[in-house]
Amino acid sequence: MIEIERDGAVCLLTLNRPEKLNALSSSLETALGEELDGEAVRTSACVVIAGEGRAFSAGADLTELGERTPEGVAAYYQGAGHVYERVAALPQPTIAAIHGYCLGGGLELALATDFRVADRTAVFGFPEVSLGILPSSGGTHRLVRLAGPARAKHLMLLGGRFGPDEALAAGLLTDVVEEGGARARALELGRQLAEQPRLAVSLTKQAIDVMPEASRQAGILLERLAYGMLSQTEDHRQS
Ligand code: COA
Repeated sequence: MIEIERDGAVCLLTLNRPEKLNALSSSLETALGEELDGEAVRTSACVVIAGEGRAFSAGADLTELGERTPEGVAAYYQGAGHVYERVAALPQPTIAAIHGYCLGGGLELALATDFRVADRTAVFGFPEVSLGILPSSGGTHRLVRLAGPARAKHLMLLGGRFGPDEALAAGLLTDVVEEGGARARALELGRQLAEQPRLAVSLTKQAIDVMPEASRQAGILLERLAYGMLSQTEDHRQS
């Protein structure tokens, strides 16, 4: 369900359930989680996530949603559903290469990466509220940080679809490229990131991720400690 390729130090993971527009079933999420533990990801400097077929992902598998009890939801987030947090917690930078539908859980997966590149065919949206639920794989937490509360509420409460230009204006994307170009652009960005000193990239990414929750004092201390560590590396000595 996941295709893995290496392009030098960049690892490309492709959601491979095109007949269901890469709907995120528990099995697909579990397969993705297994790849995160695999050597191809562990040894990479950057991870790109893309979708096979005509969509990045049409979101959570609707055939599984209706079957969940409250206990089932809790168990899901202990298992397959934890993959969104695991993507976000990867120490190396991550990029979503988006084309076609990127809805609901598919958009939440994209928001769990560090950078999103979309082509002109991308269609975004959060249909959850219209289904009587809410984005619950980290989406509300991540969207409010990227887009601010008013825009996040607008996008999630009304649930309308939007294109790459609106996504770019809302701060969700780093780049919009021509049709068919998202994967190539994401790999190009991945290669640029992979050329940077790996530990410096990783600690800076992790510092940026914890800063909004850290007090100023803790944040400043963390920066200094990380600097102390990086100042001892060969990458820094040779610079
Ligand atoms: N869960 C499970 N299956 C899904 C799916 C989802 N989220 N999204 C698409 N599929 C399946 C369809 O059931 C269909 O399967 P089938 O060929 O066996 O019938 C296949 O993927 C292709 O989808 P289809 O609806 O025929 O394509 P389309 O181009 O007409 O429409 C969408 C595309 C994305 C607009 C439509 O599939 C859709 O609305 N999907 C649900 C989106 C959603 O609400 N996601 C968030 C859930 S929180």
